[in-house]
Amino acid sequence: MTEQVSPVKGVHGVVSLPGDKSISHRYAMLTSIAEGDSEIHNYSTGADCHSTLTCMKALGVDHSFSERDGRQVLTVHGKGISGLTAPNAALDAGNSGSTIRMLSGILAAQPFTTSIAGDESLAKRPMGRIMTPLAEMGARMEAVNGQFPPITIQGSRLHGIDYSLPVASAQVKSCVLLAGLYASGETVVREPITTRDHTEIALRELGADIALEPRLTRVRGRAKLKGKSLFVPGDISSAAFFMVAALITRDSDLIITNVGLNPTRTALLDVLRSMGAAVKLLHVEEVNGELTGNLQIKSSAIKGGSIEGATTAALIDEIPVLAVLGALSQNGLIVRDAGELRVKETDRIETIAANLRRMGATLTTTQDSLEIPGRQQLHPAEIQSCGDHRIAMAFSIAALAASGSSQINDSEAASVSFPEFYATLRNIAR
Ligand code: S3P
Repeated sequence: MTEQVSPVKGVHGVVSLPGDKSISHRYAMLTSIAEGDSEIHNYSTGADCHSTLTCMKALGVDHSFSERDGRQVLTVHGKGISGLTAPNAALDAGNSGSTIRMLSGILAAQPFTTSIAGDESLAKRPMGRIMTPLAEMGARMEAVNGQFPPITIQGSRLHGIDYSLPVASAQVKSCVLLAGLYASGETVVREPITTRDHTEIALRELGADIALEPRLTRVRGRAKLKGKSLFVPGDISSAAFFMVAALITRDSDLIITNVGLNPTRTALLDVLRSMGAAVKLLHVEEVNGELTGNLQIKSSAIKGGSIEGATTAALIDEIPVLAVLGALSQNGLIVRDAGELRVKETDRIETIAANLRRMGATLTTTQDSLEIPGRQQLHPAEIQSCGDHRIAMAFSIAALAASGSSQINDSEAASVSFPEFYATLRNIAR
């Protein structure tokens, strides 16, 4: 599919977003191994989170969608910690790194063997980072060239470990914690910098035996989880696209409702504010241990700046759209310590650079950085999403500020996290 995106004067109105992708994955997996039924409100509509549900179904966990007060409610019929059953065929994680990495932690402890595979992009993503700690816990796994999907996991009896993550990755942290739910004794995960802590919060909500310290989590194995009613806040990583749309257009005033504001995810707001963005938080509240609130954002003169270290890690998913903002800012944007971008759904350093250049912008890149001069004029172009949802959406936003209409190729990639993206954009564009 292709989408034609034309320049606009601004974005206006009130937007609500699909449920957070990271939280949805965790709720689907954890309620599946909890006891009893759980209702999940505002579950992500993205294809990635549906891949997780499909995998859980293949492992014997039924779910159903129903409508209440015009909203969809997902009911997961949890099977308890020991209730999963062997699938008839290989599990399909689709495009979803979160599904394959986190679910592997659960699969490593099952009394059966499972293979898990995904699409062409997933087949290129490194799994050694989960295989190493899982092997230390006693798991038996095989992968292509020791590291790429499909992975075959022969379930084993696991024992707790004390593991220091070499790469800051919430997916790896979560994988080890999920395996820890089944392991004997205590599992400890230490992280070099704080990554998103949705797994820890969800585990606490569902009654796991878990203790949290800064950059350290302990979980005790064999505790029972109990199903409950859960609400998924809107995805701040999806909000990022519309926030940048408001910032780069000259007449914008947008409200985004129910955005997840977990402090491990809000580096984006801090960085935007430090660059001069007019962002306000309204009605912040806590639901199931997660903060949520409404955001108001208006057109602003953006100074630009630099992002590095822990900040880069904390907003790694927002970098494609921040790169667009950087090119339109006064002083440009430098992003350092971003080597992880090379192993996302595409090599995002490459796909960001190639598409900015297609729009006539200049920038320099290294193995782990991007340097984007500011005050650039973006020209209409034929954008290649390369099947990467965040690239499709980031460059659709860039197209709003170009000097003419652009074509986004493989625009359907947006459905991986945000199927309603283009409809929402059309609604708010003026
Ligand atoms: C995620 C963690 C991050 C992020 C991904 C979702 C998660 O990946 O980029 O989109 O839900 O835990 P890494 O764990 O590879 O950093």
